[in-house]
Amino acid sequence: MKIFLSFFILSWISSSFFHIEEYDDTLLLSEHVECLNSIQERYLELLKRCLVNSIYQDSNANPYGPANYNSERRDNGRDWPSLAHTMIGKKRLNTTHFCIKQIFENNIVGDFVETGVWRGGTSIFMKATLDVFDEKNRKIWAADTFNGVPSPNIAKFPVDGHNDYSIFPQLKVSLEEVKANFLKYNFSNENVIFLKGLFSETLPSAPIESIALLSVNGLMYESTMDSLSNLYPKISKGGYLIIQDYYLPACKQAVTDYRQANSITEEIIDIDGVGVYWKKE
Ligand SMILES: C[S@@+](CC[C@H](N)C(=O)[O-])C[C@H]1O[C@@H](n2cnc3c(N)ncnc32)[C@H](O)[C@@H]1O
Repeated sequence: MKIFLSFFILSWISSSFFHIEEYDDTLLLSEHVECLNSIQERYLELLKRCLVNSIYQDSNANPYGPANYNSERRDNGRDWPSLAHTMIGKKRLNTTHFCIKQIFENNIVGDFVETGVWRGGTSIFMKATLDVFDEKNRKIWAADTFNGVPSPNIAKFPVDGHNDYSIFPQLKVSLEEVKANFLKYNFSNENVIFLKGLFSETLPSAPIESIALLSVNGLMYESTMDSLSNLYPKISKGGYLIIQDYYLPACKQAVTDYRQANSITEEIIDIDGVGVYWKKE
């Protein structure tokens, strides 16, 4: 009787223990995965809000616009934030996020490239997605003079004569400052390659093999054309191009000329009345 009783108690303990363990493990695993996904997305959402600084809402440093913070302007990337680390605004950061998710889901080969980095916010966001989704085989290429917009070459590109952005100290951000901004978000420069100099000098020889996402943000005809002619052919099929300054006539003209010269017919998709994108088919 004693033996029977101890066997019964032991087997009851072990079966209930096992049952509880198994049940909890399964629950924990599925909850963990769901929780992780949502934490990744929540982290990236919070990061975007920090990068555009819709949190503390800094003023506009563009001398031709009203100085006060305006959420619609910031969402659409229509101001030059006095403190925020990107000026592309929330909607174009959302599009960047969308393109990157498509690239990861569809295993589109290639690195992420930004031409026209300013304070580094867009490249910082790109870097965050690589870290969050453990994409170790991709690089970020960040190209800029890191000394402001160059003077327009009006003789060669008359359309750039309408705006001379080289006069604005607000657009001058050094490489040291950009590297320091990466560190503020706790990102190392691992897998981030900075191409310092004019696009016309750095892009032709940059050892970029293939591109999954190219974000072009150089304001002028010449800068846009240099970015497209050197980098567009390297975009993988299924990769994305974002033109951040399409509403500027000089930039739009460069895009139109490049598309015509290369028989590009993919539909141009408007993001926010300022920037556009398309997927390379
Ligand atoms: C509008 S800002 C870029 C904004 C940035 N993408 C962001 O997320 O806030 C333009 C940048 O392009 C750079 N730039 C413009 N034309 C260039 C060129 N031809 N070569 C190198 N850098 C250039 C300027 O130095 C400036 O930092």
